[in-house]
Amino acid sequence: MNLFFPKDFLWGAATASYQIEGAWDKDGKGESIWDRFSHSPGNVDNSDTGDVACDHYHRWREDVTLMKELGLKAYRLSVAWPRILPAGRRQVNQAGIDFYSRLVDALLEAGIEPFMTLYHWDLPQALEDQGGWPERGISGAYVEYADIITRVLGDRVHHWITLNEPFVSAVVGYQDGRHAPGRKDRHAMLATAHHLLLSHGLAVPVIRRNCPGAKVGITLNLNTQVPASPSAADKAEASFLDGFVNRWYLDPLTGKGYPQDMVEEFKDPLEFVRPGDMDLISRPVDFLGVNYYFRGIARSQNISEDQNAPRTVFPNPEYTDMGWEVHPQGLLDLLERLQVDYSFPALYITENGAAFPDRVTPDGSVDDPARLSYIQRHLEMIHQAINKNIPVKGYFVWSLLDNFEWSFGYSKRFGIVFVDYQTLQRIPKSSAWWYRRVILENCLEVAG
Ligand code: FCB
Repeated sequence: MNLFFPKDFLWGAATASYQIEGAWDKDGKGESIWDRFSHSPGNVDNSDTGDVACDHYHRWREDVTLMKELGLKAYRLSVAWPRILPAGRRQVNQAGIDFYSRLVDALLEAGIEPFMTLYHWDLPQALEDQGGWPERGISGAYVEYADIITRVLGDRVHHWITLNEPFVSAVVGYQDGRHAPGRKDRHAMLATAHHLLLSHGLAVPVIRRNCPGAKVGITLNLNTQVPASPSAADKAEASFLDGFVNRWYLDPLTGKGYPQDMVEEFKDPLEFVRPGDMDLISRPVDFLGVNYYFRGIARSQNISEDQNAPRTVFPNPEYTDMGWEVHPQGLLDLLERLQVDYSFPALYITENGAAFPDRVTPDGSVDDPARLSYIQRHLEMIHQAINKNIPVKGYFVWSLLDNFEWSFGYSKRFGIVFVDYQTLQRIPKSSAWWYRRVILENCLEVAG
């Protein structure tokens, strides 16, 4: 069966600065919290760092050519804040600006629409040294940065994403300590989430002013939360996790404020919320970026396993190399829920993809049927969502290239293009060639 997509559907791939660029201290770039974190022993598997990564900073021409060859219509990339403002504020590094400016020109010349994320986790270390995201003053620094970069690129970049996954920045970076800056402080997590959202809200009008006609949005990691059994405890856990991951961000962004049930759950003073903040945070956006990888299955920790109902058996579960469940239906469920509860004017799937342990075969190719099938089945759900009049306008596969997967280092391969980390050679995997056809024909071929 052939599933045709709307004519203007935007087919893309995504990356992030720290994960691909390398050149961590080149041409005046300042240190980021991820440089500091990965250089500190014990934080990243195999002691991997982003020092070289895919060396995209030097190979960007080759990478743009590759994107063109793959027929991509759009490319989601992020700007490394410490390349633009090495100390976080004030002193601008022209070499950093020039890098992104040239890259954008090359993309446009190749007919590829850039989607620019302003913050994908690589905070200037100097700002962390001044207190980081838990300090309110950081919002001023973020707006200063957003102003500088959107002034320079605003004539050419028409889609801006203020933040990538504030939940992960706050929870994994400031509460769990598994990401930079590696703090373990619940209150700092909540203050971080608030200041991220505030920074977003403050930047929206600045971006609009600097980039007339541009579309501005924010990207959240979202998933559906399914109770692990029909027990009341698991249902309550699913509702808690939905609040923790989804509603804590979606509600304030859409003018509903922080969800009351979660405020009570956290039992933490939200003294950092000042009068007027919630209005700033809920300034309307043009689109929501959705990062979806898996559904959540919620099991209560509040009662012992033998007191709880037996877990529901989900038949034939599949998992990726991250241990993440493959559950395409969860994406459709999520999109339907977003439409009913929040109705954003447009949605882009800004990340979706899978890690598998790919190998180069003796003939030099890389065959990745599991990834291809993952992408194919998620695209099928997007097609269904569009048929239900949910305004999904584009899809960005995570990721264009194998890259530095945060605390997992280079051990997890998400790319549709294989990267040999010894030679830095790029080899499009079979999923990339398949994706090229989908884009070319604007059509997904599925069984049945
Ligand atoms: C997301 C991140 C992205 C990548 C994928 C696998 O949470 O935004 O950088 O690491 O997960």
